[in-house]
Amino acid sequence: MELTGAVHVSPDKEALFGALGDALLGAAVRAVEARGVFHLVLSGGGTPEPFYLRLVTDLRYRGLPWDKTHVWVVDERRVPETDEKSNIKMMREAMLDHAGIPKRQVHAMPVLEDDAAERYQAELIEHVGGSDTDVPVLDWVLLGMGGDCHTASLFPESPALSVTDKWVATNDGDRVVPPARLTMTYPLLNAARELVVVLAGAGKHEALRRVEAQAATGQRDVQEIPISGIDPEPSGGELTWFLDAAAATGGGAGS
Ligand code: 6PG
Repeated sequence: MELTGAVHVSPDKEALFGALGDALLGAAVRAVEARGVFHLVLSGGGTPEPFYLRLVTDLRYRGLPWDKTHVWVVDERRVPETDEKSNIKMMREAMLDHAGIPKRQVHAMPVLEDDAAERYQAELIEHVGGSDTDVPVLDWVLLGMGGDCHTASLFPESPALSVTDKWVATNDGDRVVPPARLTMTYPLLNAARELVVVLAGAGKHEALRRVEAQAATGQRDVQEIPISGIDPEPSGGELTWFLDAAAATGGGAGS
């Protein structure tokens, strides 16, 4: 497969989330051993919801060091936390409310504040490290991809794609699916130790095919294929694509 990073294909969703959970558990244990804390970054969207639920119901993951984990959000719609479109609402209901994480270690994006991006950046610096000029290094980032090849809230031809000197940015525009968003930026995401992109179902295949076709040319058109801007290798990080067979081949069961 012509993708930047490693590729892991599972036969179905169940196996995919099992492999992903094992990867997460390994990363969490390593981070706590090395630094005493694990900075975990989660995406919204429908794909990871059953995975989040599984992390708190499958005994295989009971070793997750939740008390030493800080949870961050990759992106968020600028709606109240009670809104059905809120990512943190979904994450709390599926997992965070049941995981036993100290409340102060769950970092929702303050999306309703005018200076939300600045505030979240300051919160990251306070807990993760770095500064306004030195990028904080997150441990494990879970990303998804939309049919237009966006990831996080980095949509095609949108202003946040060009942000190089801020770790969090607002995003809006013709090709941003409303409502307006707050998103982690490329420099922050690409500085992470590990990033995983999770794709399940045949419905993801066409977008994946576009990413592969572009990768095969050796060029990157980040404006049209925003996920191609995800590349942690220059800063020593790792990127892994976790796919089920339906996403990888376009065939079989899936959505
Ligand atoms: C979000 C995401 C977004 C998502 C993709 C895929 O807040 O919606 O972070 O980038 O990962 O849109 O979403 P699905 O998993 O619902 O297809």
